[in-house]
Amino acid sequence: MIDGGDNSSIIRMFHVHKHYGSKKALINATLDIHRNEFVFICGPSGAGKTTLLKLLYLGDKVSAGQIIVDGINLSRIPRKRIPFLRRKFGIIFQDYKLISTKTVFENIALVLEVTRNTRRFIEKKVKSVLRTVGMEGRINAYPPSLSGGEQQRVAVARAVVGDPKVILADEPTGNLDAESSHIIFDFLNQFYNRGATVVIATHDLNLVRKTKKSVIHLNQGQIVA
Ligand SMILES: Nc1ncnc2c1ncn2[C@@H]1O[C@H](COP(=O)(O)OP(=O)(O)OP(=O)(O)O)[C@@H](O)[C@H]1O
Ligand SMILES: [Mg+2]
Repeated sequence: MIDGGDNSSIIRMFHVHKHYGSKKALINATLDIHRNEFVFICGPSGAGKTTLLKLLYLGDKVSAGQIIVDGINLSRIPRKRIPFLRRKFGIIFQDYKLISTKTVFENIALVLEVTRNTRRFIEKKVKSVLRTVGMEGRINAYPPSLSGGEQQRVAVARAVVGDPKVILADEPTGNLDAESSHIIFDFLNQFYNRGATVVIATHDLNLVRKTKKSVIHLNQGQIVA
């Protein structure tokens, strides 16, 4: 059951622990996220939100427990299949992780280049996604010349450009004003409406309350509700 599992779930965690030395970042986390679910992971700073997301795309390994993503048991995945796993995800990192020596266009195009798309398709797609996040005017800029909120919007564009099955967003509105936050949230919601699974880590309880989506509460490494 642990290998294939219930096909309605895209992410399952079973009794997952993550320790960094003596620090327990995640304690006995068990959860189930369905295909095409929109879920928030909420909790105060240090609760383990980023840690939880990281374990899903093998940005780090669990200390104990098991994780199944789209039927793949992460503890048994051969190294050469990790890129295949990662392509299921569009990830908005808390610190953006844009490449500072590449332009906005190049940062986003990279995602599409690994899967053999034509130049023409890539240009069209990158421009269109930048337009939706209001960043088309900065297509040739380098990330260090952008404000925090602008970098965040580019990071959102990069996460969605490949039409991933699952969008993992770590504080995607952390650096945005209320209006821009709303635009980004609506944008992510469109992917949900088209069938993607969206997982957002945040401490923005206002956003969570307003949107009436499911919520997983984390506190000091434990799922509390
Ligand atoms: N690489 C690491 N080495 C040591 N400790 C770590 C590491 N990564 C995370 N931690 C610790 O694990 C705990 C959970 O961290 P995590 O980054 O998951 O919290 P978070 O909920 O994302 O917080 P924030 O809202 O501030 O982003 C924290 O106490 C953090 O200091
Ligand atoms: Mg975090």
